[in-house]
Amino acid sequence: MVRKSMDLIEKESGEELFHAQAHIWNHIFGFINSYSLGCAVQLGIPDIVHNHHQPITLSELVMKLAIPKTKTACLFCLMRLLVHSCFFATREVCKYQEEEEEGYVLTPSSRLLLKDNSKSLSPFVLAMLDPILVTPWNFLGAWFQGDGLNPFETAHGRKLWEYAGEDIEFNKFFNEAMASDARLVMSVVVTECKVVFEGLKSLIDVGGGTGIVAKTIAETFPSLKCSVFDLPHVVSTLEGNENLNYIAGDMFESIPHADAVLLKWILHDWNDEQCIKMLKGCKEAISRGDMKGNSGKVIIIDMVVEDRKVKHKSTETQLFFEMLMMTMNDGKERTEKEWEKLFLESGFTRYKITPLLGLKSLIEVYP
Ligand SMILES: C[S@@+](CC[C@H](N)C(=O)[O-])C[C@H]1O[C@@H](n2cnc3c(N)ncnc32)[C@H](O)[C@@H]1O
Repeated sequence: MVRKSMDLIEKESGEELFHAQAHIWNHIFGFINSYSLGCAVQLGIPDIVHNHHQPITLSELVMKLAIPKTKTACLFCLMRLLVHSCFFATREVCKYQEEEEEGYVLTPSSRLLLKDNSKSLSPFVLAMLDPILVTPWNFLGAWFQGDGLNPFETAHGRKLWEYAGEDIEFNKFFNEAMASDARLVMSVVVTECKVVFEGLKSLIDVGGGTGIVAKTIAETFPSLKCSVFDLPHVVSTLEGNENLNYIAGDMFESIPHADAVLLKWILHDWNDEQCIKMLKGCKEAISRGDMKGNSGKVIIIDMVVEDRKVKHKSTETQLFFEMLMMTMNDGKERTEKEWEKLFLESGFTRYKITPLLGLKSLIEVYP
């Protein structure tokens, strides 16, 4: 047996062996990409580059960052990696006496990290790389060998939502991370998916966080009464207005009535059994119907995973999210077949998928 596997190794050419080694190294050190990006966001490098209004040289960046000059070579390494991973690009700048130097400029990805960009994803970067959300990954192997408790619970002794209820700081930056994604997604939803909200008089955003989704809908459709339903630690201190209402509660117990229930980034947090329970509650919440007897709908914003045999460039991102849901909660990302099964088992009869939102889709589900 040992002899056979040695033969296999020996058959590889030197090039193949080193290629395999580099493949392993790249996966071991993938976290360096994550933390280098986190470091750039933490230091505010995208904003500095942006505010410079022209390509910024390394020495200018050192000055603006107000870091010791002795760190110049280290900053060069950081920037070189971030240029390689397309977060910045370089342009030649003509400096004193026609001496040429390189300057850094933004790319579409780093523009999305600017603090004053209303769609900034910086809060999402910082939250996902916080030790509270990174530590559970160290418990993945132990979790596979045991039963019960997901890796987050194994690491922190309680579920993610309980943890958020007890740690004010975590609750704040986690909600801000969710709000940053909501701002980006909703800017597209209310322009390109307007028809989804036509004819609705009331909508409840279940697990709606601090209310960015509902606020955006209420502002775009002033005659639509919107409510945000979430756990007390998320909504109890928030104030609404005549068009926006915050309700504290548990979505597994009961969901207040509305023409439409919206679930953005909710169902992927939970297993099939929990989703069916929640979807049955949603069905009840929309079942009263309008004056003409039309019952409402559930609007889901979540991923619809490609068929796993297709190797699309976004497949890896979807697989990352699936691992993330499994590690932080008891959830998963779902294929269309898996979504359909959930809807039918919860008593819904039809659905429509609109794949307009990059890796996420909007799914309308009807009783
Ligand atoms: C992944 S976040 C999504 C937030 C928001 N929908 C968005 O996409 O920006 C999940 C939300 O579900 C809420 N949540 C978790 N368990 C809940 C429960 N039992 N009842 C109500 N909300 C809950 C969390 O507090 C959190 O705000």
